Amino acid sequence: MSRLDFDFYESEDPVWNPALLTIPVPGIRKMVNMAASMEDVIHLSIGQPDAPTPPHVVQATVDALNAGQTGYTMDAGLPELLDALAEYYSERGGRALTPENILITSGATEAIYLALTAVSAPGREFIVPDPSFMLYAPLIRMNGGEVKYIPTRAENNHQLDPQEVIDAIDTNTHAIILNSPSNPTGTVYPRETVETIVQEAAYRGIYVISDEVYDHLIYDDRDYASVLSCCSDLDHVMVTSSFSKTFSMAGMRVGWLIASQGAIRKLRRYHMFTTTVANTPCQWGGVAALKGDRRFVADTVATYRKRRNRLVELVDETPFLEGYVPEGAFYMFPALPEGVNGNNVALRLLRETGVCTIAGDTFGESSRNALRFSYATSIENIERAFERIIPWMEKQDFG
Ligand SMILES: Cc1ncc(COP(=O)(O)O)c(C=O)c1O
Repeated sequence: MSRLDFDFYESEDPVWNPALLTIPVPGIRKMVNMAASMEDVIHLSIGQPDAPTPPHVVQATVDALNAGQTGYTMDAGLPELLDALAEYYSERGGRALTPENILITSGATEAIYLALTAVSAPGREFIVPDPSFMLYAPLIRMNGGEVKYIPTRAENNHQLDPQEVIDAIDTNTHAIILNSPSNPTGTVYPRETVETIVQEAAYRGIYVISDEVYDHLIYDDRDYASVLSCCSDLDHVMVTSSFSKTFSMAGMRVGWLIASQGAIRKLRRYHMFTTTVANTPCQWGGVAALKGDRRFVADTVATYRKRRNRLVELVDETPFLEGYVPEGAFYMFPALPEGVNGNNVALRLLRETGVCTIAGDTFGESSRNALRFSYATSIENIERAFERIIPWMEKQDFG
């Protein structure tokens, strides 16, 4: 960890808003920084696609720059992109969306930031699956809200039990956070789960905030249940997504938030006070992604599926790791035996074998004995990593 990270995150210097203390030292940064100082590291830690951005998307972005598309767009986003997204979602989800239901943001990250911080407040409780993407809980807590975690387990494919979610709702519950497919588990929730949760939430007047950045990375022709296809209206839902994972555009920073027209009007104002607008030329790249040849998506899904299958086999051959079959995204989150400290294991694996993984406690409280493996890397790298991991695990005594 660099000195800078330490000072920023650990300091209780009164100059900082104490709310910043809710932001943990990012486990991913810690590992990746350490790996950067080592040689011959194999990364199973990467949270972004390894394929290059489709050339027609790059070309459209370059063309936009050359055409002088370098100013601000309107605050809700580039009108052409709003139209393209409305059309695309209407086609895909069977739900008629208008451009007024959409706000273009700087990646899904800004959409999540706006959604959570706009509704989190002291006394409000948020139901969050555990493990989950590390942004949610700190953003809720920063604004005084409380997090009620619902643990999920490797032995159950990290599926969320809808009845457990319903039982966790009380008078303070303000929203439920969903992320299917999930980072870090790759779990895809079946339609019954999403429908049951969304319908109960609507009935009780609770928001469902659904992070759907991996909505295209679904394997084995599984049905994908977007919250948009499970709600009767948009009054109690906010859906966030982006181009980052589907079209390998993570650094181009274009995402969006879908909600009722009233919610979008309110969030537009907040967005203007946060980032003003998303990157203009890259929004043109996004239009090309939606309107152009989408074979890229099918090809990457086929590639990830092969890697997923190989990773599942290798985890199965590894002592002490309990695997399962993740059905989406590009992550697997196998468990070590109960009580084993995943953080120590991840650090020792990196130091002693040069394989970089991410410890489970980066993603919540209930999976301290887990490791996140990313398969956004070649099959060769995955196999080389396990040529190191398996003999190392064979030497451990976790009993
Ligand atoms: C679950 C999840 N949501 C959101 C994001 C952020 O996406 P974006 O690059 O669009 O900000 C990520 C990135 O890793 C993610 O895993």
